[in-house]
Amino acid sequence: MLHTLSVAARAHTNIALIKYWGKRDDVLYLPTSTSLSLTLDSLYTDTRLTFDNKAKKDSLHLAGEKQDDASTAKVSRVLNLFRERYGCADAPAVRVDSHNHVPTAAGLASSSSGFAALAFAARALFERAYPDEPHMSDTELSTFARRGSGSATRSIFGGFVEWSYGTGSQDSVAVPLDNADWDVAMVVAAISTQHKKISSTYGMKHTAATSAFYSLWRQASQQDLEAVRAGIASRNIDAIGAAMEANCMKFHATMFAANPPFTYMTSKSLQVIEFVQALRDEGLSAYFTMDAGPNVKILCRRSDQDQLHERLSAAFPEITLFDAVPGDAPELLDAAQWSELYG
Ligand code: PMV
Repeated sequence: MLHTLSVAARAHTNIALIKYWGKRDDVLYLPTSTSLSLTLDSLYTDTRLTFDNKAKKDSLHLAGEKQDDASTAKVSRVLNLFRERYGCADAPAVRVDSHNHVPTAAGLASSSSGFAALAFAARALFERAYPDEPHMSDTELSTFARRGSGSATRSIFGGFVEWSYGTGSQDSVAVPLDNADWDVAMVVAAISTQHKKISSTYGMKHTAATSAFYSLWRQASQQDLEAVRAGIASRNIDAIGAAMEANCMKFHATMFAANPPFTYMTSKSLQVIEFVQALRDEGLSAYFTMDAGPNVKILCRRSDQDQLHERLSAAFPEITLFDAVPGDAPELLDAAQWSELYG
């Protein structure tokens, strides 16, 4: 009974320690450099897919609200890749119900968990409906998530994950490096959960096309990547943090040097950054990074997380803080779990 088939999944966001900032192929979403992230447990998206025989087109519902054609088209683009892969161009339309446990589109990486949850659920849905097709590995799945949003590639695995530059679509994939099951955590300072003014898609395109620093960024990013990899291998939070911060500043510098220039940093972001630097001067291993929004993510030891949280909340009572430890790979949710959560 294809038309009643329904599958749900949960995927976690990831925060890039080494940033992805530019596509060398706008259709395949191939990056201009390798990136590296940490998957977070407490920020995630739950998504249920249901074949809808009666509908002519896919539909997308976010927290129960039907989304517009432009947002639905992004989801359909990914679902169409599965229709192609499973040889079923005539598969029924899919109703997508999604719940973000991440503030949407505010540089808190909701697109990474969103498209990873979509891809993870879609693989299970299509495998159940078309069981004769060859199994899709997690590595292959990461290339499907990538076509929704670059950062979603990395949310197919837990812990520290690299998204390789690759030679083409088949090998520009997520590679799990380390499950991060050690003394590492993050505190996210959500300065603003408003929709960002400049989307990451536009921001990276504009930067790659106009920034005087763009080619330098790509070279320098490779060195930062190697330093973070070495820090992960030796479980050295200070080595990871120093290279992560350096990469973040170079990433934002590319935007200062774009034409016209722009930035996602706000005066409040800079205040948090200065506070993190001051904590470090006191001996606390805390390191910042920022993405395409004003929010600051702070890497720390898990054993220091409570202390860091308390200090931040005393200094910035107006900022919402999210504590996170390393998260796992996506998982399926059964029908009972879904109805308990969302009715
Ligand atoms: O995946 P996108 O298109 O939302 O781009 C994400 C870009 C950054 O978050 C700024 C960096 C990264 O690697 O996640």
